[in-house]
Formats: sequence, structure tokens, C-alpha cells
Amino acid sequence: MKTTRRNALSALSAISGWAALGLPLQANAQVPEPVFGTPGKDSGWIPTPNGMVEAMLEMALVTPADLVCDLGSGDGRIPLLAAKRYGARGLGIEYNGDLVKYSDSVAQKEGLADRVKFLQGDIFATDFTQATVVTLFMPPDFNRKIRPMLLAMKPGTRVVAFNFGMDDWQPDDSVYVDAQRGMLWRVPAAVGGDWRLAFDQAAFQKVAQPTLLHIEQKFQKVTGHVVLGGERLVLWDLRYDVDRLRFAVIHQGQRLDFDGRVSGTGLEGSMVAGGQPVSHWKAARSA
Ligand SMILES: C[S@@+](CC[C@H](N)C(=O)[O-])C[C@H]1O[C@@H](n2cnc3c(N)ncnc32)[C@H](O)[C@@H]1O
Repeated sequence: MKTTRRNALSALSAISGWAALGLPLQANAQVPEPVFGTPGKDSGWIPTPNGMVEAMLEMALVTPADLVCDLGSGDGRIPLLAAKRYGARGLGIEYNGDLVKYSDSVAQKEGLADRVKFLQGDIFATDFTQATVVTLFMPPDFNRKIRPMLLAMKPGTRVVAFNFGMDDWQPDDSVYVDAQRGMLWRVPAAVGGDWRLAFDQAAFQKVAQPTLLHIEQKFQKVTGHVVLGGERLVLWDLRYDVDRLRFAVIHQGQRLDFDGRVSGTGLEGSMVAGGQPVSHWKAARSA
């Protein structure tokens, strides 16, 4: 990984920041301190500065309900801090065995070993699908390669990366510490394609049949139209948040507001006209 002098300096100051967080500088006399640039597989070891680690975990709203997995966990600081500060469970996947030993020794010394585990291995051969928060500080090529695996995770999983983004998958949020950037993505549910809508309000069903909902999806961004009673109507005020889809259409001069969620392989929600609930609706994918 190429690092600027500024990154390396922040990272160095981050190492000395361990003591301020109550984590030891010398985890265990038998386990040597990791050395900057220690080789890994897809990158060597350069740590995320501790101030940034905190800011990223805050941005991801980590709670005790989370399993925070750091892909390429280096000296273990991210899963360890997630457990120590936020009560989460932590998982680190790290290729370099010495870094795993060092991380384990800190977990032992800090009394966190029951909640934080480190696995030695290749990220691409290790199952991390149970994680609710995934963190990483890896080069752009790695991010491009891991992206399909992240997008296949449970909708709502938070992905937090330091410094390098996810190509054309734009972040949902960012945080800056010392002019360096941490980014957050929420894994969106797959909603793109054609859906056949059915309303449970008989009168509306009759007017609107057949009803097609067409959605174009690019990551968290969606556009689309519905066909209601033979009329093609553009979706207005379209908002998509992880698995919640909201939009409005103007149908026969009346504004109809739809609010639904992707649930399993279906989509369902409510429809409001002029502020009054009109109908529950469901949608299944068109064959
Ligand atoms: C830039 S460091 C980031 C360390 C840590 N995530 C942090 O932010 O402080 C990247 C780490 O990933 C590890 N690594 C690189 N490729 C890997 C792979 N394919 N599988 C597991 N670990 C890997 C390296 O050994 C290194 O410790």
C-alpha cells in the first residue's frame, strides 16, 4: 500500500495513542511490538489512527448488539476498541501470524478475550457474513475485489473504511479527523427490477390493474416508474434507505404516497392518498 508521509505520521502518533485509550503499549513481553510495514497479503500493516477508529465506530453507531469485524485486523485495535468502548463483540481476520499473536495477547491482557477473536487467514477464504459492522483500511484494488462480498451481506450491515473508498459505490456518510476521511456505507437490499403490485383495497385494485412497478437500482440510489391503470407514472420524492422504499405518484390528479419495505423476496407497505390511508399493497417480482 502506498502511504503518504502524512498518513505514516498520523499512524505513528496513533500507536502512542494506545496508552491514552487505556490499552497497553507493551501487550506482553514475549510478543514483540508490530513494526510498521510488516507484510501481509494484499497490503502490509499500517494502522488506522486511533482518533479515526473512534470516529468511525461512532459513525457506525456501534452498540453491544454488534459484531464488529475488521478485515485485515493488524494489531487488533479496531475489534478491541469496539469491545472495550462500545461493548460489542469483535472479530479480526489477519494474514500475518505475528500480528494475530500480538492482537491475542492484548485481548488477554485487557480481559477482552471472551468477546474478541482473531483468526489467522486470508479474508477471501474466511467467513465474516455474521458481522453487523465491517471495518477495513485496504487499498483500492482490494476494495474493488471485496465489494461484491460486502454487497451480498445482510441489508443494513454497516461498512466503514479508512482513506480508500468503494469506487463508484458512494458512501452514505463521512467523517474527517486531521483532514483524513473515514467513510460509511449501509448495505442496501436488492430492489431493482420489475415488480407486480397488488392492492388489498378492492376498488383501487380494479382501477389500477394491471400494476407494474419498475425500479432501476445502482447501490443505494434508485429511480423508477409504475404503470397504474395503463398509465406510466414517474416515481417522485423517491427515497431508498437500506430496505425502505418511499415514493409518490400522481394518479388521475391525485397524489398517492407509497411506503414499503423489502421483506424476503417480496415488497410490501401502505399507500396514502391526500393524507388518508387507502390501501395496503404487496409486490412480488415479475416472472
Ligand atoms: C493497512 S493494514 C490495516 C490494519 C487495521 N485494519 C487498521 O485499520 O489498523 C492492513 C492489514 O491487512 C492485512 N492483510 C492484507 N491482506 C490480507 C488478506 N488477504 N487477508 C488477511 N489479512 C490481510 C495486513 O497484514 C495488514 O495487517
